[in-house]
Amino acid sequence: MKSRFSLATLSLAAGLANAALPLPNPPWMPPPASSGAQKSSAPQQPNAQWSTLVGDLLYFYEAQRSGNLPSTNRVPWRNSSATSDGSDLGIDLTGGYYDAGDYIKCTYPMSWAMTSICWGAIDNGQGYDQAKQTPYLDDMLRWGLDWLIKAHPNPNTLVVQVGDGDIDNNYWGGDQHIATPRPSFVINATNPGTDAASSAAAAFAACSALYGSSTPLASGSTPASLRDPAYAQTLLTHANQLFSFATNTRFQTYQTAVPAVADVYASSGFHDDIVLASLFLALAGNSSSFFNLAETYYSNFSMTVTDTILNWDDKTPAIPVLFTQLLSQRQDISGGSQKDLNTWQGRAEQFFDRILNNKSRGYLTKGGLLYYDGDSNDASLNPALNIAMIMFRYAPLASSSQKTNDYQTFAKRQLDYALGKNPMNAPYVVGVNPNAPTNPHSAMASGGNDINNIDTNPVQTRNVIYGAVVGGPSPGDLFYDIRSDWVETEVALDYNAPFLTLAAMGVSKYSDDPFYTSLADGAYASVKPSGKPCDDAFPCGGSGLSRGATIAIAVIVTLVGLVLIGLLVRFFMLRRAKTGKLFV
Ligand SMILES: *[C@@H]1O[C@H](CO)[C@@H](O)[C@H](O)[C@H]1NC(C)=O
Ligand SMILES: *[C@@H]1O[C@H](CO)[C@@H](O)[C@H](O)[C@H]1NC(C)=O
Ligand SMILES: *[C@@H]1O[C@H](CO)[C@@H](O)[C@H](O)[C@H]1NC(C)=O
Ligand SMILES: *[C@@H]1O[C@H](CO)[C@@H](O)[C@H](O)[C@H]1NC(C)=O
Ligand SMILES: *[C@@H]1O[C@H](CO)[C@@H](O)[C@H](O)[C@H]1NC(C)=O
Repeated sequence: MKSRFSLATLSLAAGLANAALPLPNPPWMPPPASSGAQKSSAPQQPNAQWSTLVGDLLYFYEAQRSGNLPSTNRVPWRNSSATSDGSDLGIDLTGGYYDAGDYIKCTYPMSWAMTSICWGAIDNGQGYDQAKQTPYLDDMLRWGLDWLIKAHPNPNTLVVQVGDGDIDNNYWGGDQHIATPRPSFVINATNPGTDAASSAAAAFAACSALYGSSTPLASGSTPASLRDPAYAQTLLTHANQLFSFATNTRFQTYQTAVPAVADVYASSGFHDDIVLASLFLALAGNSSSFFNLAETYYSNFSMTVTDTILNWDDKTPAIPVLFTQLLSQRQDISGGSQKDLNTWQGRAEQFFDRILNNKSRGYLTKGGLLYYDGDSNDASLNPALNIAMIMFRYAPLASSSQKTNDYQTFAKRQLDYALGKNPMNAPYVVGVNPNAPTNPHSAMASGGNDINNIDTNPVQTRNVIYGAVVGGPSPGDLFYDIRSDWVETEVALDYNAPFLTLAAMGVSKYSDDPFYTSLADGAYASVKPSGKPCDDAFPCGGSGLSRGATIAIAVIVTLVGLVLIGLLVRFFMLRRAKTGKLFV
């Protein structure tokens, strides 16, 4: 019995390993930033600059790898690291991705990044294929999903974080001396976390759908070519188990079970996560009962899509878009009722039209970035790019060609902004052009190890973390490119995710270059603001108080204001406060 069991395990493991697409040899490597200043001589499709952008954005994830690095590692300055993760629980939690500029592994935002990328690779898969980046997409997804499998060691247990936010916040340095201990935090049947379990279920299901089927979810597009039915089945099993865990245990946010995650990624709710997970389970398993369940939950929770945003915490606006896709493209799952289709289109369009008509909470900065006070404060590009991503996805399904046009125009403007068509003349992706940020808030890329002198030690960033999308500019469109300004310069798994989907779409859609090839060398340097920004990393106001006191007052004032507008939870967590000072 015993030996048969281990043989079966072995052959299963070998089967999984063999199914990965072979990586190019020699490997694809990101070209130097100067190559992003070379205009293509004529329109071409696929356009080489867009293809390079996809490659760069994927390469970022490779730089974020935790655990034992394989021989195929392309990031020369990275080492194997955190190779004892999980030892406190007696399980193997090595691998996966570091969340941002630091060294913790956070399941909740990572699950959204995986969900988002797999959804995009179903919709815009031909972009990865044309860019010849599908093997790297496969490699990137497996590095995340294989870890997520380890983080789900039995049906009712999910590891939601590895590493303690406070301990990690006091470390700034390379990957060889990462702060310890690195505790593992779990949710389980006695201490559940509805949002985290549902969100991981959504990631497994969305990626199962990608690996499991080549059926398009949008007309005229094909999923990326990485079929692996056995892997799809494994992912679907985890998705089903996690969804049962989420919905058959007490409903509560995961920080209620694990208070230690509250100052890192506290979630504001779980309704969105449950509905999105049911929809992706419907897609992955061709299941009309999951489709109907998503409808039931949406109505039982009395959800609306009027004025939310889209990010790691809130996925509500993605829901009517996926409903519309399933109702119009997958009648076998959804039944394809015209009445339901009209309802979901109406909800999607109400959300988008409010943005276009300046009736939403969001507004355009002078330079044209969609900005939400509060939600955009610590990562201004992220809500804007997430919304651009779903607007592009939805546009062909709109109820009129006028709306199709309007959505595409608006979304293209957001994408162009991030690609350098902005008052700073800066594309906000490291290494793609000479005007791109050079001081990302990434401890391992910086080469420094002095937490009190993040900006000057060293003066010049040691390692170029190609493809890293930074937080983004201020509401006044200013970008200071200061390493310690985590608000504007931090990198993160979920910042790259919508940009990656948009770039893959760009490969399949645009024969002209991404905007940045038209930027003159020195275009950013000539407008770069001097001094410091006013943001959560550099509170200002000239009160003469100590920095700690200023932060405390700013927090109290902010909280009072936010209680009034009902945003307390989302703001409370002071996301990614990696100054090493906010929490000590
Ligand atoms: C990887 O290890 C080498 C050799 O010890 C070291 O020089 C380098 O800084 C390390 N990389 C990081 C990101 O810490
Ligand atoms: C269940 O989760 C709670 C909260 O993380 C933890 O304290 C407890 O040890 C877990 N129980 C088991 C049996 O793992
Ligand atoms: C779901 O249906 C699609 C399209 O008919 C098919 O390609 C796929 O294999 C099916 N997946 C499952 C899990 O049955
Ligand atoms: C939805 O609400 C109805 C009526 O209260 C209830 O019977 C049903 O069990 C609920 N369904 C779910 C999935 O929560
Ligand atoms: C959008 O609305 C806000 C607040 O209602 C207003 O201040 C702003 O000027 C409007 N912008 C445009 C472009 O109409």
